[in-house]
Amino acid sequence: MIKYDFKTFMNIDGASSYKEIIHKIKSKFDKCDGGEIFTDVSKCISSKDIEKIKKVSKYIRNNCDVFLVIGVGGSYHGSKALIDMFINKYKKDIEILFAGYSMNSSNLYELLDYIKDKRVIVNVISKSGNTMEVNFVFSKVLELMKSKYSEKELKKRIIITTNKNGGKLLSVAKKKNYMKFYIPDVSGRYSIMTSAGLLPICVAGIDIDSLIEGYNEGKSDMDKCFLYATIRDILYKKGKKIEAFTVYDENLLSLNDWLKQLFAETQGKKKRGILPISVFNTRDMHSLGQYFNEGEEIVFSTVINIVDNKDVKLKDKSLNKINNIALLSIAKSYSMPSIIINMDKLNEKNVGRLLYFFMVSASIGGYLMGVNPYNQPGVVSYKKIIKENLNGKYKR
Ligand code: PA5
Repeated sequence: MIKYDFKTFMNIDGASSYKEIIHKIKSKFDKCDGGEIFTDVSKCISSKDIEKIKKVSKYIRNNCDVFLVIGVGGSYHGSKALIDMFINKYKKDIEILFAGYSMNSSNLYELLDYIKDKRVIVNVISKSGNTMEVNFVFSKVLELMKSKYSEKELKKRIIITTNKNGGKLLSVAKKKNYMKFYIPDVSGRYSIMTSAGLLPICVAGIDIDSLIEGYNEGKSDMDKCFLYATIRDILYKKGKKIEAFTVYDENLLSLNDWLKQLFAETQGKKKRGILPISVFNTRDMHSLGQYFNEGEEIVFSTVINIVDNKDVKLKDKSLNKINNIALLSIAKSYSMPSIIINMDKLNEKNVGRLLYFFMVSASIGGYLMGVNPYNQPGVVSYKKIIKENLNGKYKR
């Protein structure tokens, strides 16, 4: 169960003036085509592919020490968020590593050195198939894989997830006959329910059926999505330009990274948009807390909390309760408006529902801001500038 508290730690009025625009946006979600297809799992992935994901995941779990996922942006943050959330870092039965989200050479050097004597299966994920970071890292990893395995074995150890129509990755996959999964035309940051997100998530042992069930149940929270998006818009117009996504469990930090991408790429256009930042408490009370308490009043927070945690007792006191008291005290004593989202338990159903809530809310927020929620011209121009400069201006 998830409870959304939009009232206790803020006082917002003006939501009624959004009636007309909300009505218009609602009709887009009712149609569920174009950018909104992410709300319908059956348009993101076929049941045949879900079965294939389960089968391949089983194979991967039985045949490698390291499952290496290479991707960036929407082809990385979703699965990383869920894997970090659910998989106990001290007790893993399969090691899942991520790469392809930077071009740092010593990081790649260390990764290659670490996996060179291990049994490895690689899943390279890129919707376009042309993303520079991903292709650079994949080419080095492929070199290593070729030195370890025969062509026949590579067909079982290289999995390419990309679009159906073109790009470098698709040509490699076709030429070498590597295993393939296809990503439909869903914007990267909204693609967690496609094979881009679901394959690594399933390999980690997370129950994707329950995740999808929870996601589908998210449809009954539509009014809450509209309310959250409206509140964010009202706050923005009152000068609250920064949203601090705040967690009290470090296993949710990658969820914050996913949220940063989702909201920044959806809304940050035409010189508008709320800037999402990530906060981990109570750690950041000893740093950002100073700003939140006495700095400019431009921040509001959205807290994602798990109520029922594995507990540790300090004599007769519960550390979980103490952490929850800290959350409430911070929300109450700071002048910053806070939205609190309480998940009773960390399980796949709740998380599926939460993903739906955030994705729909982000998209509504884009429409309210007067921008296209599903494009990312700023990211496209970064990709273009780097490519041009690599080809000329700066010598390698
Ligand atoms: O949201 C987006 O579309 C982007 O941030 C992409 O996810 C990111 O650039 C990675 O692109 P690709 O999956 O094509 O490698």
